[in-house]
Amino acid sequence: MKNLASSLGNKNKFLILGCGFSGSFFAKTIRKLGCIALTSSRSENKDPNSFLFNSENGIVPNAKIFNGVTHILSCIPPDKNGNDPVLGSLKNKLKSLPLEWVGYLSTTGVYGNSKGDWVSEADKPKPLQNRSHKRLNCEKEWIESGLPVQIFRLPGIYGPGRSTFEAIRTNKIRVISKKNQVFSRIHVADITNAIIYLLQNKNSLKFHQIINIADDEPCSQIEVIQYCYNLLGLQMPKPILFEDAKEELSSIAQSFWMENRRVSNELLCETLGYKLIYKNYKVGLRNCFLNS
Ligand SMILES: NC(=O)c1ccc[n+]([C@@H]2O[C@H](COP(=O)([O-])OP(=O)(O)OC[C@H]3O[C@@H](n4cnc5c(N)ncnc54)[C@H](OP(=O)(O)O)[C@@H]3O)[C@@H](O)[C@H]2O)c1
Repeated sequence: MKNLASSLGNKNKFLILGCGFSGSFFAKTIRKLGCIALTSSRSENKDPNSFLFNSENGIVPNAKIFNGVTHILSCIPPDKNGNDPVLGSLKNKLKSLPLEWVGYLSTTGVYGNSKGDWVSEADKPKPLQNRSHKRLNCEKEWIESGLPVQIFRLPGIYGPGRSTFEAIRTNKIRVISKKNQVFSRIHVADITNAIIYLLQNKNSLKFHQIINIADDEPCSQIEVIQYCYNLLGLQMPKPILFEDAKEELSSIAQSFWMENRRVSNELLCETLGYKLIYKNYKVGLRNCFLNS
């Protein structure tokens, strides 16, 4: 990978708002490429690169955090009222900065239920769940903010430390089967690398405001679980039919099974030329197996 600092100018300073699973992976990677990356957290910690931001109790970053910032990545979901925590607290501040780029991590939930068909950025979003309506509103608010924003729609995120292996190890796995049901996924390293690829090639690639980042092979949950059990050398429990398991599932878990779609990565991988590190769950999970 090209040196991001040298390919974009070595004065890049990133603020990563919401340093959870994806945000921390991104921060770690761009630091290795020579950029400055400060990350937000809702709680005090000893990391010298971390600052406090919590929209829930009005804690906003100190003004000097924003000095010299060129890039922002928001990894924070809508708050319980459906508002975007970053825009709600920091829109005017961000608009006052000479930002080169703002990234927003969204979800493919905005596409709703395509009954197993492929969905792409060209499709009109048809959110089904309340949380997906909220997310679509946040996307709109980002677009209307006038900031140089690029929105990344993500399916289920997994990676070392957060995958089916953890669910198996902690006994939280539910082996459920539902006929013809598929899910799309993305390895956390591909979220980071795809964004870096787009930034490095910003001047030569046509700008797209909304981009899906998903792997090549949507598939059933059972295939993924079976693959993990095989790697662990363990016997997978007998699957329970969704219809039989439904009553015991939390409403959020049930809601995931109500949507069936295949998320297309054609724009990212064909039109824009990004090469996935982990094309499918098998190579991605092998990486998790070896690193967790
Ligand atoms: N997980 C998935 O499978 C998935 C799939 C598609 C899309 N997404 C979306 O993609 C984004 C990144 O996902 P992720 O799984 O990497 O996220 P994550 O690990 O859950 O991290 C979310 C971050 O947001 C921060 N945060 C939440 N509410 C906040 C608030 N009101 N004020 C300030 N900070 C707040 C959290 O702060 P603390 O660190 O202090 O907790 C955390 O750092 C999220 O928007 C997520 O909804 C996730």
